[in-house]
Amino acid sequence: MERLIIKGGNHLQGEVDCSGAKNAGLPILASTILLEGSAFIGNLPHLQDITTKLELLNSMGSSINFHEDGFIEINSSNILLPEARYELVKTMRASILVMGPLVAKYGKAKISQPGGCDIGSRPIDFHLSGLEQMGAEITSDSKYIYLKAKELKPISFTFPRVSVTGTENLMMAATLIKGETRLKNCAKEPEVLELANYLNSCGAQIQGAGESEIIVNGVESLNATRWNVLFDRIEAGTYLIAGAITNGHVKVNKINPETIDIVSKKLIEMGVKVNIFKNSVEVDATSSDLKAQDIFTEPFPGFPTDMQAQFMTLNTIAQGDCTVEETVFENRFQHVSELRKMGANISLNENKAFVSGVSNLVGATVSASDLRASASLVLAGLVGKNKTHINDIYHIDRGYECIEEKLNKLGAEIIREPVVD
Ligand code: UD1
Repeated sequence: MERLIIKGGNHLQGEVDCSGAKNAGLPILASTILLEGSAFIGNLPHLQDITTKLELLNSMGSSINFHEDGFIEINSSNILLPEARYELVKTMRASILVMGPLVAKYGKAKISQPGGCDIGSRPIDFHLSGLEQMGAEITSDSKYIYLKAKELKPISFTFPRVSVTGTENLMMAATLIKGETRLKNCAKEPEVLELANYLNSCGAQIQGAGESEIIVNGVESLNATRWNVLFDRIEAGTYLIAGAITNGHVKVNKINPETIDIVSKKLIEMGVKVNIFKNSVEVDATSSDLKAQDIFTEPFPGFPTDMQAQFMTLNTIAQGDCTVEETVFENRFQHVSELRKMGANISLNENKAFVSGVSNLVGATVSASDLRASASLVLAGLVGKNKTHINDIYHIDRGYECIEEKLNKLGAEIIREPVVD
């Protein structure tokens, strides 16, 4: 067990590079199950979730080789055991992404019930009902879900609500199903488009990814290719807020600004100067008086739920009152009690938080309860008076590559130390 200790109050200055996007890397790794030959995947972030996914593939029989140029070679052409074990899945919900590819390619899968961040009940009923309509027989017990299929068939399926991994799972399965599958009310997130682009580079016929309706024409087989994973828009947004909250001047490089357009707009509304370049976004808050702004989370291109906690922290020290409404997950306010310990003025009513800005946060001992909540606490620590101790930082290492090194390079003072009982 480790914790972060942050000495707050420094104005961050300088440039930081984004890492590859976890939420793009995870489905691409799962998709290698569909492929013949070796995939070479680059720009994968060094994160616990990526390691877990590689271990999961390896436990099923994929061969994994790390190359000096940073690419990881994955050959999943001969899965021996189409089973995602409980020990590997319990920590990471995205393990369910192997389900669609396994049934499509091998006609069977045994998947542990999913785990991951505790941000709501997070059912997988859309994944299962889509695969069932495709012809999979599905049974389950308290620990595992079992899927069996002789041959899957194309379907027309409308997601009852937008689901990112649901869209990815059914889209992946459809690539090897003879005929035309139509998926409606799909997630439009850039990571869905990235997965479709990767699979199309392998010979898949996917149209419409990034839009609401995706049409997949199944092919006989797919051949693995070399691919660099796109950069992480949530990490980029988090570092922009780090600049804004510390009245700093920070440029985030290696990011497609279009993917964080709504985040940049929100920062501008809050009174931060934002400069947009081809592959970078810069915030200058050295002379900004932050003004509170309402947040309402929605699927892409709306305001991302994965940025809600970080913006709430920014709002805690902005002038005025605002509401933060979470519409994607029902239990994504676990940072609120921790931010209150640091002096934030926040009240909650179901999925709505009411934030009244205070002039200062004050360092405290807090606990990270989920991935983005932990990022919001790091941001609070950067601005909080004195020292903030963040315990249970396991979640932050699932989603942020070298967070303290990157922030320290910008002038933060963060140390990581083991917790001794
Ligand atoms: C993905 C992202 C996560 C992000 C989320 C929303 C990955 C690996 N994770 O998670 O970082 O916060 O999108 O942008 O890409 N739902 C159902 N039934 C289902 C599936 C979803 O009711 O079968 C509900 C969920 O409980 C939630 C909403 O739909 O309320 C959206 O969830 P979903 O988009 O599926 O999130 P994930 O794909 O798990």
